[in-house]
Order: sequence, then structure tokens, then C-alpha cells
Amino acid sequence: MDLNLEETLNVDPRRLDRPLDPITKAWDLAYLRFAKPDLDQQATFFKDFGFLIAEHSSERLYVNGTGPTPYFLVVEKSAKPDFLGVAFELTSREDLEALAAHDGLQIEPAEGPGGGERVRLTDPNGFSVDALYGRAQGTQQPMRKAQPHNTPTKKSRINQGQRGPVSPPDVMRLGHVVVMTPDFEGSMAWYQKRFGIIPTDVLCLSDGTPVLAFNRCDRGETPADHHSIVFATFPVKGYDHSAYEVHDLDAVGLGQQMLKQKGHKHEWGIGRHILGSQIFDYWSDQDGHKFEHFADGDVFTSDYETGYHPMTSQGLYQWGADFPPDFVKPKISIGFLLEFIHNLRTVPGLSFKKVRMMLASTGGKARPWL
Ligand SMILES: [Fe+2]
Repeated sequence: MDLNLEETLNVDPRRLDRPLDPITKAWDLAYLRFAKPDLDQQATFFKDFGFLIAEHSSERLYVNGTGPTPYFLVVEKSAKPDFLGVAFELTSREDLEALAAHDGLQIEPAEGPGGGERVRLTDPNGFSVDALYGRAQGTQQPMRKAQPHNTPTKKSRINQGQRGPVSPPDVMRLGHVVVMTPDFEGSMAWYQKRFGIIPTDVLCLSDGTPVLAFNRCDRGETPADHHSIVFATFPVKGYDHSAYEVHDLDAVGLGQQMLKQKGHKHEWGIGRHILGSQIFDYWSDQDGHKFEHFADGDVFTSDYETGYHPMTSQGLYQWGADFPPDFVKPKISIGFLLEFIHNLRTVPGLSFKKVRMMLASTGGKARPWL
């Protein structure tokens, strides 16, 4: 038994080509947008999670971490909780102008700390997608140093204990977001064309149909996270989770202690993923929106080839707490069923068979050696 997923796909997969002539090559995710009814309650969860509050007005919350990004979350006051969309950071104003021209949109000033300019697009799912350029970086906040680790052959910590602070971890940055979509093919094509994202690893059904892609930013020789944005086939559109980088396993573990102490809802962890290799721990806020602490993730340059693997629970993690059966299961409601039926009628690549195969593929044992 080994963890080499590459060898276990028995059919030739339908390949997701790299974008040939993208309008831009996004540098990174810039921020995510949420709507929430109670900004004070949201700020409390975020502070317990380790985020810093950059700005808090009666209408809006800007959230950052210890890194130089002025904010990586925007929460707008609204009657109902919702995920609104994502934003990508561009590296030139020419790119911003090209995107605006392509979709016939205006460049407008970006609100929030650091300013800058943006074009607000709408993706095939109806989520807003901001292309952002020129946001001024802030200063990095103080954060604890990575702890030296002793190994059997190298003792780098002598006469010194291993004790992290019992406090919310220092969260450095936004790492990735996972978007659920009934229109997997349309979403991939739309984002690849506009932002040049590269599929790092693609999960396929047993007939070779791609249904989930981990996508990274094309930074050329500069390494990028294994995935900044993931698209996963699902009966209805939605937000699955977003992930934030902390120092190490101790930060993930001590962060878990703090969130437990504060009475927040634990979703899954601690464990280590296979694709992307992150050490992970998932929590949800009062509205069921999931947020992940992660450490020690993989990074890749643009020349790294795309991997194709079977869509199974075995691809999720190499060790850790048991995968909760309801982690990715849809919550069935009248609204869900109506949206699903609408999607089956209107989204070309979606079929009942595809969704059934997708959901069945995650029903197996995540760790078959147990
Ligand atoms: Fe994640």
C-alpha cells in the first residue's frame, strides 16, 4: 500500500489543457467576500481563529493576518449569511485594462485598506470575481518564529523546551478557496481564460471525466501554492471552505485548543492531505462557513506537469482524524432540489449520473489500510 495516486487511475483521463492565451496571469488570491448578519459575532469568531481585524464599521469588516496583505477577507453586513465571491491580485494595470476591455466593464476604485483599482466580474456560477491591481501592501506584524525541531540525527534545540503560546495562532495569509460548482467545465474555462490558472492535480471519475481540479497561479519560476482555487463538481453552487497559513503543526494544534476552549464547531482534523500535503484542521463559524488552518503545504513552479488521479476518499489525506461522512454531503432542502433541477436542465456538462458517480466516489474508506 502506498500513497502514489498517479498509478491508480485505470483509464486515460480527459485532459484539462493549460490556458493557451490567458488575458492575465493572476499572482495570487487577493481576498474573499462574505455577507453576514452580525459583524460583531463574525469578528469574535475570526479573532478566536487567529485573524486580525483591520477595519470594523457598522457596515463592513476587513480582516487580515500577520502578513503584509492589508486584508484577505471582506464581510459585508446583510440580512442573510452568504459567500459572495473571490478576488485575484494582478501584477500590472495593463492586465486590469485588458480584462475590463474583454468583458466590457469599467475599472473602479477599490474600497478598503490599501486602495487600488478593480474590475468586478461575474463567473458562470454567479459569484463575483474582483480583479485587483495596485493595492498598497501594509507592514508585516510581529509573529512568533518557527520552532526548531529535533530529529533523530540533528538536534537543533538544546537546553530548550518546545512550548508554543496557548493563544490563537498567528495566521500569515489566505492560501486557497474551494468552490463547489455544477458547471465544472465552464468554471475552469472561464477562470483559465481570465486569470491563467494552471491545474496542478485533477481528480477524475472512473470513466476518466475530470470533476475536481486543484489550480495554482502561474508565476513562472516563482513557486506558487499547490492550489489557490479549487473547483469541485456539485449539484448546486457553493462555498466549501477557505484555508489560511500558519507556521507549523504546533500552531495548528494549539489553534485547535483555543477554538475548542471558545466552544466553536470543529469539522475535521488534524491530519495531512495528500495532494498539496498540507497539515490541516477545519472549523466552522456560526453560519456553517468552514475555515481551515494549514501548515507545510507544497509549492510548484509553472513547469510542473498536471497530475490526474481517481476521485476517491483515498486521495483526501494520508493520516489524521477520520473523515467525517457529512463533510462534503449536500444539505438537502426544497431550495437545494429546485436549484439542482434547474442546473440539470441548463448546465451542459451536468447530469444526474455524473453527480451520483461524484458523490459515490467519496463514499469509500479514506484510509484503506485501517
Ligand atoms: Fe483546504
